[in-house]
Amino acid sequence: MKLKKKMNKKLSILILGLIYSISGFAQSQSEIPEVEELLSKMTLEEKIGQLNLLTPGGGVATGAVVSKNVEDKIKAGNVGGLFGVAGPDKIRIAQEYAVNDTRLGIPLLIGSDVIHGYRTTFPIPLGLSSSWDMDLIQKTASIAATEATADGINWNFSPMVDIARDPRWGRIAEGAGEDPFLGSAVARAMVKGYQGEDLTDPTTMIATVKHFALYGAAEAGRDYNTVDMSKIKMFNQYLPPYKAAIDAGAGSVMTSFNDVNGIPATGNKWLLTDLLRDRWGFNGFVVSDYTSLNEMIAHGMGDLQAVSALALNAGLDMDMVGEGFLTTLKKSVEEGKVSEEDITVAARRILEAKYKLGLFEDPYRYLDETRPEKDILTEEHRAMARKAAARSFVLLKKEGNVLPLKKNAKIALIGPLANNKNNMLGTWAPTGDPQLSVPVLQGLKNVAPNAKISYAKGANITDDAELAEKINVFGPRAEIDEKSPKALLKEALQTAKNAEVIVAVVGEATEMSGEAASRTDITIPQSQKKLIRELVKTGKPVVLVLMSGRPLVISEEMDLPVSILQAWHPGVEAGHAVADVLFGDYNPSGKLTATWPRNVGQIPVYYAQKNTGRPEPNPGEFEKFKSNYLDVPNSPLLPFGYGLSYTQFEYSNVEASAGELAENESISLSATITNTGNFDGEEVVQLYIHDKVRSITPPLKELKGFKKIFLKKGESKTVEFNISVEDLKFYNAGLEYVFEPGEFEFFIAGSSDHPFTGTFKVEE
Ligand code: BGC
Repeated sequence: MKLKKKMNKKLSILILGLIYSISGFAQSQSEIPEVEELLSKMTLEEKIGQLNLLTPGGGVATGAVVSKNVEDKIKAGNVGGLFGVAGPDKIRIAQEYAVNDTRLGIPLLIGSDVIHGYRTTFPIPLGLSSSWDMDLIQKTASIAATEATADGINWNFSPMVDIARDPRWGRIAEGAGEDPFLGSAVARAMVKGYQGEDLTDPTTMIATVKHFALYGAAEAGRDYNTVDMSKIKMFNQYLPPYKAAIDAGAGSVMTSFNDVNGIPATGNKWLLTDLLRDRWGFNGFVVSDYTSLNEMIAHGMGDLQAVSALALNAGLDMDMVGEGFLTTLKKSVEEGKVSEEDITVAARRILEAKYKLGLFEDPYRYLDETRPEKDILTEEHRAMARKAAARSFVLLKKEGNVLPLKKNAKIALIGPLANNKNNMLGTWAPTGDPQLSVPVLQGLKNVAPNAKISYAKGANITDDAELAEKINVFGPRAEIDEKSPKALLKEALQTAKNAEVIVAVVGEATEMSGEAASRTDITIPQSQKKLIRELVKTGKPVVLVLMSGRPLVISEEMDLPVSILQAWHPGVEAGHAVADVLFGDYNPSGKLTATWPRNVGQIPVYYAQKNTGRPEPNPGEFEKFKSNYLDVPNSPLLPFGYGLSYTQFEYSNVEASAGELAENESISLSATITNTGNFDGEEVVQLYIHDKVRSITPPLKELKGFKKIFLKKGESKTVEFNISVEDLKFYNAGLEYVFEPGEFEFFIAGSSDHPFTGTFKVEE
């Protein structure tokens, strides 16, 4: 008996060993023979060189370090890729160094941050996501790819898919908001848009899903801060968009600056190997964020050699700017701290990416000098930017019948963002040119030449000189006027006198959101709040066009008799898009993709919250010993999914095709939507489901479907969602992806803030 047991054990060790060596073998061989052949010729130093990503600087301003002696390093075979350099002529020079002056002539990857358009800047990603229009989003990404590749770029540091539930965090602007289901759809659309069908097509580029992982959950909304999160929350709420991008074929992954449960993402083996490679099967390459490898020293993980070894052993393939790999890996191999085999694995992944781009066949494939002229900032692209911007706007409040405006109206256009180019593009648009953007004043004039428009600035974006200095870091954004705030206000009130309607364009400067631009007070700056109050006092109808890179706290403004159109930072066609919507050429259809809180104290506040054992009894009613606040209700100011239209939509016949759902079938959940107002318009029809009982506490509702439809006035359409048990799955306590039978509630509506109207059951 004993012997048998021993034999069995031996046999299983043998089988395990066999499996290990087979999978090990699979890992240590590329399916691309050219890559293997090249690798076999490479020295250790040459392999390490492939893992080094540098920027010659000039135009890219992020972090403090900018790579030195880039030219010499390329020639010495010490560089695998470059970013922050653009234009076929310039890139050709760099590529020629790599191809002609190094022993093996391996071409460079050429990266860039093309976050919301290249030269043709689209609205910030948070705005784009508010369109809920995946075809549109994919189209913007594919235009971005056409333009960037025309300028020599073959690798993009986007999409940013970090779920963000804290609007204090400035980088909420760069993602698709708070929801994993919507975020996953946006992630897929962007990867498809950038990468197209075939990476060797010179109008496509490799997409990078970032920032892996959980960057949007930085504590207190302070950028780069700690993240400590349960795996159940990660798997169910934060990881799905990264996985969706990888399943859609994203060629690379960028790590994040934050630590994840005690280990910085850039050196986190669980994240980069166990989850990303072993569980998700990712086979592209992983790049660090800008010096995030070196920053592990400050995180308290050791010196440069130690953190570089940590990162390589964790599964990082490429080191952005920090040169920790370049300067320490050889020593670590000699000291047995990393294996040459692991360096080979990382180099293999970089070479495979180059091969997939077709760079071995033709290193100059992206360097057609005739393309920039033909492909960049075309009329067609600008038209798409205008269309995308109009579709990203969210009508937050309608007061009377002021909107849409008449094209011959007498309009007082007021506000620090009303005749402004510098703040139209929004954060992370380093490849765009603010001077090419259409200010709102110009846009209104172009769209309504018969309108009588008078303009006054009215206020500074902020009167706070210290803040102004911080937001002027990349150029003049704050633009504090030479005139005193009092004089500006006086001028505005004078301008308003002869008008029938006041349009006030107010909000945040570009650099008040984005990287390293967290705020603890997310209201409209005081200078502008005062202006708004004074304009309302005139008694004239007031429309606020609000620009920002995040949800703002606008409790006070929502109580004023004003209409509010949220326009984010709209991009290069800002003014035209604002005019299209204000004058009713396009009826606004955007819906919020992140909750707007009543005040900062409510944060984090998001729609998919869970119940407590002591829920708020009735919405808005305080009761002692219940989960509520003394000072505000639990509900947010504006919920996820919310957004108005110039017309009205009514929902009826919300029903399930059957009361029960069997395992291999699907049921249809449907609703009839009728346009009962006076304008044609689009509506984002949303399906939310609540799993009433399950083995881990369920969110009170979860988005499980959405469709954007167009309805002429008076028209009705029935929208159907087919739901199977696949759609009801979640990660349980063992992190298995399962569904559990039971009862489910659902509703179909134009916002997440709606009662449940139907149920169905899933049988055992
Ligand atoms: C940002 C990344 C960006 C990188 C390179 C970093 O500071 O976090 O999103 O891709 O810089 O520019």
